[in-house]
Amino acid sequence: MPFAITRSCCNDAHCVSVCPVNCIHPTPDEPDFGTTDQLYVDPRACIDCGACASACPVDAVFPVEELTAPLAHFAGRNAAFYADRPVGTTWAAPRFPRALPAGSDLRVAVVGTGPAACYAAQTLLRSTEARLTLVEREDVPGGLVRWGVAPDHPSTKRVADVFAWIFRHPRVTLRLGTEVGRDVGLDELRATHHAVLVAVGASDERRLGIPGEHLPGVVAGGDLARWANGHPAAPAPDLTRPRAVVVGTGNVALDVARLLASDPDDLGGDLDPHVRAALRRSAVREVVVVGRRGPSSAAWTESELLALKHLPGVRLVVDDVPGVGDEVAAGAGPAAHLQDVDREAVSWDTDPVGRRIVLRFGSAPRAVLGGSRVQGLALADGTDLRAGLVVTSIGRTARGLPGMPVDAAGAVAQESGRVLEAPGGGVVPGLFVAGWAKRGGSGGIGANRRDAEETVAALVDDALAGRLPAPTAPPPLPLRRRLLRLR
Ligand SMILES: Cc1cc2nc3c(=O)[nH]c(=O)nc-3n(C[C@H](O)[C@H](O)[C@H](O)COP(=O)(O)OP(=O)(O)OC[C@H]3O[C@@H](n4cnc5c(N)ncnc54)[C@H](O)[C@@H]3O)c2cc1C
Ligand SMILES: NC(=O)c1ccc[n+]([C@@H]2O[C@H](COP(=O)([O-])OP(=O)(O)OC[C@H]3O[C@@H](n4cnc5c(N)ncnc54)[C@H](OP(=O)(O)O)[C@@H]3O)[C@@H](O)[C@H]2O)c1
Ligand code: SF4
Ligand code: SF4
Repeated sequence: MPFAITRSCCNDAHCVSVCPVNCIHPTPDEPDFGTTDQLYVDPRACIDCGACASACPVDAVFPVEELTAPLAHFAGRNAAFYADRPVGTTWAAPRFPRALPAGSDLRVAVVGTGPAACYAAQTLLRSTEARLTLVEREDVPGGLVRWGVAPDHPSTKRVADVFAWIFRHPRVTLRLGTEVGRDVGLDELRATHHAVLVAVGASDERRLGIPGEHLPGVVAGGDLARWANGHPAAPAPDLTRPRAVVVGTGNVALDVARLLASDPDDLGGDLDPHVRAALRRSAVREVVVVGRRGPSSAAWTESELLALKHLPGVRLVVDDVPGVGDEVAAGAGPAAHLQDVDREAVSWDTDPVGRRIVLRFGSAPRAVLGGSRVQGLALADGTDLRAGLVVTSIGRTARGLPGMPVDAAGAVAQESGRVLEAPGGGVVPGLFVAGWAKRGGSGGIGANRRDAEETVAALVDDALAGRLPAPTAPPPLPLRRRLLRLR
């Protein structure tokens, strides 16, 4: 029986390199890598060796016969990926990261400890003898793996285990609770290291730019995720009213809908006790996910949507507004996965009774309603959704560090990971960027691996070519030492 890859796959391609028959695709060398929700095992070629399951950091791979009911359909999804593809088990030529000669002196500061920083640090530690300073503003490392990934997805959070060795490596100095731009300057890091690699993510939540957006009771999706993950500085959302509205149809919107609509005792994972208690007290019974475009343009991945269909005690409903039924029936892209979901004309005049998630499409938000606090969301089609909580989950843009140039797409101006003086301008020697800071707030955890490797390759090339400025001072003493707590 072959193996199959399931929901929590984050596309980091660890399994690809251990598969003895090259039957996991798309591989990072193939053109469709990064365009699919996940990787897939070719059941015609798999020899059932289990190497992929051992290599997977997020427990996404299982023998087909061991798939439990909510995951059983992944056997078919893996096979379907290969329906029009020939069996092919030949390998592309191996690629090796460029390495520095032994004894090369290289000091690199990496700003951030999210996936991009960790993949970059991992590659640097393996391919060079560089000494690294990792600088993180939070008191715990991990970036969005710690504070973003939904707490009821423990297998995804397990990717942090893959990175734990980095923080204990003898060539790594870890500075937690240290914000670059506040506690230490970028100039200081540049003066004391040959290179600075900025992996600070995309910290600016996009704004809707509509009236009422700043009322109490409006919260950004990322902030709600931080609260759900027990971040001490994240304010608790108002859960005193039966309906909540989430704007946006990305995976973060679905995470929020799942967390708010579910009975907390049905949520898996290791929920912070305060969060679980708040969810037990919650009056929220219905979460309306609002998309400004139709169902074929939804931004979520198929596996996250499928998970909503299997939530215990929560109904998934599509609001039957004009045009949606036809679009679902046509089945283009994500609309195809809604064909077996109940469709009904939802009334907004009464309070919801049971737990449910309503998907409402073709509805641009016009204004947040309310005086001193949120009363609901007005849509451009004239509908008012009465709600006590409005979550704006419409993505993020990056701004890098103070003074760094940002391009029109909302990411740091760069070329192959080398930071530019301005969009289209010259390279700033010794300054690099990776991850969401480089690409904007898009892509799952694994997407940052290839991205970070590209940046490190540019850094190593510059080191080999003598293009990195020599440090002018020894590394600064740690500003604030904190005990490393890996949670
Ligand atoms: C709510 C949410 C849930 C997600 N869930 C999933 C999921 O389930 N599966 C999946 O595959 N992907 C998920 N993603 C996407 C995934 O988290 C990102 O692809 C990934 O975290 C981006 O990595 P990064 O290192 O570029 O940024 P981040 O993870 O944001 O890391 C940036 C780090 O830099 C630090 N930092 C920022 N500014 C400074 C500064 N000035 N000084 C020092 N440190 C600084 C931050 O504190 C942070 O630790 C999710 C994203 C969000 C927003
Ligand atoms: N489980 C997982 O694997 C997981 C979990 C969470 C996040 N992630 C990843 O993290 C990345 C970020 O996810 P995300 O959900 O934050 O963002 P996203 O995928 O970019 O989705 C943003 C959503 O906001 C909508 N939007 C943008 N501007 C809007 C506006 N002004 N008014 C109304 N709607 C607006 C977009 O609609 P339009 O399409 O119309 O612009 C889209 O539906 C994604 O790559 C995601 O896959 C992965
Ligand atoms: S998470 Fe990585 S190792 Fe696991 S199945 Fe997906 S690509 Fe393979
Ligand atoms: S079980 Fe072995 S042969 Fe099958 S996909 Fe995994 S690594 Fe490849």
